[in-house]
Amino acid sequence: MDRLEQRDNIDIIRLYTKEEALPYRTSFVGAYQSIFAEPPYSERFYPMEAEAIFDSNLHTPENITLLAVNKESVVGFAFAIPLRSRQSITSKLRGLLPIQHTFYLAELGVLDLYRRKGIGRTLTQWRINLIDTDAYNDVVLRTSVVKDSSYQMYLSMNFDDTGVYTEVSSRRTDGMVRTDRRLFLSRQLTQES
Ligand SMILES: CC(C)(COP(=O)(O)OP(=O)(O)OC[C@H]1O[C@@H](n2cnc3c(N)ncnc32)[C@H](O)[C@@H]1OP(=O)(O)O)[C@@H](O)C(=O)NCCC(=O)NCCS
Repeated sequence: MDRLEQRDNIDIIRLYTKEEALPYRTSFVGAYQSIFAEPPYSERFYPMEAEAIFDSNLHTPENITLLAVNKESVVGFAFAIPLRSRQSITSKLRGLLPIQHTFYLAELGVLDLYRRKGIGRTLTQWRINLIDTDAYNDVVLRTSVVKDSSYQMYLSMNFDDTGVYTEVSSRRTDGMVRTDRRLFLSRQLTQES
């Protein structure tokens, strides 16, 4: 585990192994469930599903798994993996970005109580800083078409709207499965980014 920085009692940590993740697992699940239950996503994840997302990210080669923690309580999370390891996304972006040389920012969330303190931006800047720029030229993510805080944050960090959309089918908080529309944003990586 690496402790990347600390401010206002919040540590930004990077996890590498399942063992290191163990103390944060339950708390991650709670944070993930509550953040994505909010609009515009209104998604319902069962604990096993949130755990599976955590584990699958941590098992992906070259993953960047970051948590913002207040002692052992998870207040934010941010993941990134090589784009080629996410087949469902790769198929949407062929021809738009060099798949082998693009990193994917997979998840980002900060608990409501901790927002507008710079945690989302810090987690994202660390994800970008930790990508190997000898191997990767671009970074991409998808976010809701609703131009919410996430869209504003990424634009303020020099991401561009690619104009490419995808539909995501998911169980919603009312128990129904519905699709919602997401937009891809991307940015080039430079040695200095
Ligand atoms: C997106 C999210 C992670 C931002 O986290 P955060 O810790 O509040 O973000 P920061 O405090 O670092 O803010 C970074 C910038 O984003 C923008 N921003 C954040 N919240 C905003 C809001 N409510 N309205 C407008 N802009 C906003 C601002 O440009 C802000 O910079 P500023 O505070 O200097 O003006 C958080 O709102 C969240 O978890 N949302 C729900 C989940 C989600 O949308 N995840 C991303 C999609 S997968």
